[in-house]
Amino acid sequence: MPRHLTIKYYVEADPAALARRAAQYFAEMASEAVEAQGCARIAVSGGSTPKAAFELLADPHEPWRSRMPWANLDLYWVDERCVPPEDAASNYRMTREALLNHVPMRPEQIHRIEGELEPEAAAARYESELRNCFRLEGAEAPRFDLVALGMGEDGHTASIFPHTTAVHEMNGRAVPNLLRQTDAWPGRLTGRGFTPAPPVFFLVAGREKASVLREVFTGSNDPERLPSQLIWPSSGILSLILDKDAAALLPATDEDGCGVLERER
Ligand code: 6PG
Repeated sequence: MPRHLTIKYYVEADPAALARRAAQYFAEMASEAVEAQGCARIAVSGGSTPKAAFELLADPHEPWRSRMPWANLDLYWVDERCVPPEDAASNYRMTREALLNHVPMRPEQIHRIEGELEPEAAAARYESELRNCFRLEGAEAPRFDLVALGMGEDGHTASIFPHTTAVHEMNGRAVPNLLRQTDAWPGRLTGRGFTPAPPVFFLVAGREKASVLREVFTGSNDPERLPSQLIWPSSGILSLILDKDAAALLPATDEDGCGVLERER
């Protein structure tokens, strides 16, 4: 992976505007992928920030529902909680209620992590699902067309929490499977190998995320403490869609609300 990373950030006035930009991004990236190769494979995480974007995508009164290539879309998750799919904490449940219940996708297009199983079994089954869907061999990683991530106040992303074994497992690995969080967060499964090539974007909102965003993207490299720094796509480009509260401590943007940061490691 390149040592250089260009971080492009887009700042919206508030969480509602952020959700609109995210919906637009999903629709554009999915359509481009379908045009180029006949299908679009998208990986999403949980958390509250993507929910509003999912609701917009599903809303027949908004422009995106009719633009999304639903029939040619495959949806994956980068992480899941170790709970059944109907549990309030399930990332799948959030996505199902906000999006999947309202759009014309077939069950075989939806590749959820089975949080209700023993974590090792869920991880093995998900790895085999990814291997089959992406026809992976050996240590090849799946090449999604879009990966949408969130970030916690402690710098975690995709259930990779600070100072946990997942940080080391994730670092430098491209093995497409799941890792059980064994220490501080035993109830989570995180995906590995989901970031190598595709467009990756973070969706982050709220004043409480401002200082962690600054640390992750402008501070020194310390992925052990700030696991979001592990997200380093091989394209050398990472996008952030932020609201102005979250972006409050980043360098000012241009008049279009765009900013750029450069990082080396
Ligand atoms: C999860 C997520 C996690 C999330 C962040 C941010 O299941 O918890 O996958 O990585 O993206 O915690 O969450 P919010 O968007 O709710 O702030």
